[in-house]
Parts: sequence; C-alpha cells; structure tokens
Amino acid sequence: MTQDQSFAPADLQAAQQMSASEAIEYHYDNDTAFFSLWLDPTLSYSSGRWHDPMTRAPIAADLDEAQRRKLAFHLDAARVGPGHSLLDIGCGWGAILKAAISERGAASALGLTLSRDQHTYIEETAPEGASAILQDVFSYDSEARFDGAISIGAFEHFARPEMDRSQKIAVYRDFFERLHTLLNPGAAFSLQTIVWDAVNFEESKKWLPQTVFPQSDIPFIDEVVEGANPTFRLAYLENDPQDYALTLEAWVANLRTHHDEIVERWGEEKFVWFERYLRNSRLAFTRRKNALARFVLLRR
Ligand SMILES: C[S@@+](CC[C@H](N)C(=O)[O-])C[C@H]1O[C@@H](n2cnc3c(N)ncnc32)[C@H](O)[C@@H]1O
Repeated sequence: MTQDQSFAPADLQAAQQMSASEAIEYHYDNDTAFFSLWLDPTLSYSSGRWHDPMTRAPIAADLDEAQRRKLAFHLDAARVGPGHSLLDIGCGWGAILKAAISERGAASALGLTLSRDQHTYIEETAPEGASAILQDVFSYDSEARFDGAISIGAFEHFARPEMDRSQKIAVYRDFFERLHTLLNPGAAFSLQTIVWDAVNFEESKKWLPQTVFPQSDIPFIDEVVEGANPTFRLAYLENDPQDYALTLEAWVANLRTHHDEIVERWGEEKFVWFERYLRNSRLAFTRRKNALARFVLLRR
C-alpha cells in the first residue's frame, strides 16, 4: 500500500483466501510512515526485553530501551561479532541488520522479508554490508553459509490455521532442516516467537486472530522443540508473557498519542482496527493464552 491509501479490514472469508505473501502485505504493507509513528526508532515490530528472566528485575525504563536490550540479546545469542555473516529470517524494517553491522562489526547481514514496504525501506536506509531480499524462507537457498542466524516474530507465520499438531511440526522441521543447510557447523540460532501458553490445542484454534494475521498459526513450545530436535540442539529457553504485554501497552499509548494525525492521514477505521488488535493482543498475554519464548539453538 502507498501513503494515504485507505485501509480495508478483511473479513474471515477474505483472510482465509489470501496467499502467504498477500497475508503479510495485508498486515505489514500499511505504510512505513504509519508504523514509525508508534513503534520505537528502530521500527522493531516485536516484543522488547523489559525484564531479567531470572530475577524479574526491570532492565528497561521505556520502549526504546527495551528494544535496544532485545536487539543486544539476540546479537549476543547468535554470537555476532567482527567479520561475522548473519542471516535474519523475517527482518522487518532491518533493526537487527543495522545493529549487526554498526554495533558488532559484522561483515554482512542479510534479511529475508515478504513485505515490499520493509524491503524498500531497507534498500533505502541500510548501511554497507546490510541488505534484504524479498523472499520466502521456505524457498530461499544460498551457496554461502552463514555464521549465525536470528529470527524475531516470523515463526508465528509459518504454520496455517487448518494444520493439526503433526502438520505444524512437519513445517517447523522443514524450516530447521533448511536453516541447517544455510549455517556453518556449530552456528547459533536465536529465535523469538509468540507461543501458545495456558490453552490446549483445540482452544488455540479458537483464539487465532485470523483477520489480523491471516493464514498464520503460532507454535506451542514443544512443537518448536520437536521440529528443531533432528537438526539443532536446544541451548537456552525462556518463556514469559510480561515482556510482550508491556510492549503492547507502549504501542497502544503511542498510537493514541498520534490519534489525530493518524485519522487525518489514514482514516478513523485504520486507527480503530490497529488499536483494537493491539489491545486484544495484550489481553492474550495478560490472560496467559500467549507467552513470548526465546530459544537459542545450536546447529548440530
Ligand atoms: C512481526 S514482523 C517482525 C520483524 C522484525 N524481525 C522485528 O522484530 O521487528 C514479521 C516479519 O516476518 C516476515 N516473514 C513472515 N513469514 C516469512 C517467510 N515465510 N519468509 C520470510 N519472511 C517472513 C515478515 O515479512 C516480517 O518482516
């Protein structure tokens, strides 16, 4: 979508008929200028890191700091350093790519995204060494092998709503097998994803926000572990709902601060739709239907 184009919410039937790329474009190609009004300056569209997972002590005073902490966590976990080559699966507007080059001295950082707006933005703003391609990770192949990988907030899009548990695990296994061939031996993969938490499998399907993120279902932790096990060793795992609830609270507050500008530029319907979805998402975390999981996995 281009700037000032109006947003039309999809009904369930329309959402169920979208292809994977259309589903991503429907949500993410809503004008980078719109997202930049309520995300942090790095345009991170995923949970920040607000707490120490052991002590529960706060480690961030606001959204900007929580996002910087999140980026640092993943760069540490994927062991990104001078000369390193990094693959970021679902790179959004490129926050990790830029930090890998400018803060850690990585030699190269390549992102994959299905969003045209994000791809264009990265092409226009990325420092030398950072780049992105508009491609589905499930069809991506490369001669070069990477020293590490990060994926934040993309894994939620890999499985489809109609899939049963074994089908979901098969998709995740396929993903990890592909990643295995893209990484050098011993490479670390830092994965952050929303997970189902205090719900059983049947309930999870009823809670799916199909008109917000069409064609997507999120994993249970054990599905990720089963999918990864043949090709990756689990080195670290944390699971907590609070970081995302705080992130969503900050996004809603920012959105409301810009209410008048958003309505003037993109219309009331878009403001209402995004505000409702962010509030409902927060409820899913405070009621513990969802939690946020961070995995560090080592290539076997
Ligand atoms: C919630 S955004 C997160 C973006 C970024 N990692 C961040 O934290 O700001 C999800 C990202 O995953 C990407 N994505 C989802 N499914 C994908 C797939 N199959 N292949 C490549 N990218 C995908 C989207 O295009 C988008 O960039």
